[in-house]
Amino acid sequence: MAQLWGGRFTKQTDQMVYDFNASILFDQRLYRQDIEGSMAHVKMLAKQKILTEDERDEILRGLASILADMESGALAVTAEYEDIHSFVEANLIDRIGDVGKKLHTGRSRNDQVALDMRMYVREQVQKTDGLLKELLEVLLGIMEENVATYMPGFTHLQKAQPVTLAHHMGAYFEMFRRDRERMADIYRRMNYCPLGAGALAGTTYPLDRDYTAELLGFAGPTRNSMDSVADRDYLIEYLSALATIMMHLSRFSEEIIIWNSNEYRFVEIDDSYSTGSSIMPQKKNPDIAELVRGKTGRVYGALMGLLVTMKGIPLAYNKDMQEDKEGAFDAIDTVNSCLPLFAGMLATMSFRKDVMEASAKNGFTNATDVADYLVGRGVPFRDAHSISGKLVLACIAADKALDDLTLEEFRKESPVFDEDIYEAISMKTCVEKRLTYGAPGEEMMRRVIAECREYLEK
Ligand code: ARG
Repeated sequence: MAQLWGGRFTKQTDQMVYDFNASILFDQRLYRQDIEGSMAHVKMLAKQKILTEDERDEILRGLASILADMESGALAVTAEYEDIHSFVEANLIDRIGDVGKKLHTGRSRNDQVALDMRMYVREQVQKTDGLLKELLEVLLGIMEENVATYMPGFTHLQKAQPVTLAHHMGAYFEMFRRDRERMADIYRRMNYCPLGAGALAGTTYPLDRDYTAELLGFAGPTRNSMDSVADRDYLIEYLSALATIMMHLSRFSEEIIIWNSNEYRFVEIDDSYSTGSSIMPQKKNPDIAELVRGKTGRVYGALMGLLVTMKGIPLAYNKDMQEDKEGAFDAIDTVNSCLPLFAGMLATMSFRKDVMEASAKNGFTNATDVADYLVGRGVPFRDAHSISGKLVLACIAADKALDDLTLEEFRKESPVFDEDIYEAISMKTCVEKRLTYGAPGEEMMRRVIAECREYLEK
């Protein structure tokens, strides 16, 4: 074990304690942010005459060589250091000698880790946003091609009213669009630099926090040094948004699993995105959709874990906060791998339009339209509802669709029916009449699709 502290200790740390306390095995993924943060800190120290320009240049060269060696794999992280901050600093001192010991002037690991984590999350938020955008592209492509692909819309998983595939996909488009808005919102709120907060109370050196914030691409410095080192709200917000993305992906997965079943046969998942069974030769399983649905649990778990970790922590930094990392990293990796997998599965999936349309036809999805037809001819809606219900009952008994009833059969329930009933309850009419904003009628759907296209392009 190699430590950055120890002056006031007379005994070695117990090995078990050391291992328990160490975070290097997981915080090593922050090495780039740690080094970039240190570079900005050193530039600021020199600008403020706390370091000389020569000292700055030497430290910068040392840090750059560490970064290059880590990127190339020439320098591997070893467990003898407690955390990534110690690892980088010790390496720097190894490489450039005593001047390396000046790096940590006016800084604490508390504001350092707060900075590293913020920079990491800030990048990941952008990555998630990009992946969401790619998924939206796939969705919009399907929407554009399917404004006249009729399918049943469901409530209670019972066929309700006919919609189109474009409309159904459009619902997911809205969900993932809101997810992107959450990313933008989180980014805007979190983009303030905690560096310079020190351990908790700022420092006595004349640091220029605006300058480091600017060098690192933040909108400005954080306003309260205690909050700066104790705040993990941004991470909770991100995890919450990730949990919401998984909830959306999980609902979508569930639908795909149902649609892909032998009973529905609405879709066929491409061979490249399905798996077989080791015993049943006929099987082609929707494993990817099931795994995405299953992985939702661990992302929810990360959010819940961090909320519980944070709830009892007094100001300012406490070691509990080291626990922010593993769950968050796992959740971030999970979502950022589920999104492209899901988009790929969707892009390669084929839709059986004939099966979808037939399903919409034989499920009485136009029963409301029969009632609406009667209302159009002066029958009060409550009576019309009852007449249409009786016709459905007769159809069930005769095992046929409403469209298959003869005019005579229609008239048995109400004399108001005429030849035009068939046109009025055809699948096309049922959908195309629905022309309110947000409804599936083709004309409206095309307008909404154009708006979605404009949104993606801007
Ligand atoms: N590994 C620590 C963490 O992740 C870094 C900060 C350590 N600060 C301290 N005072 N021990 O939170």
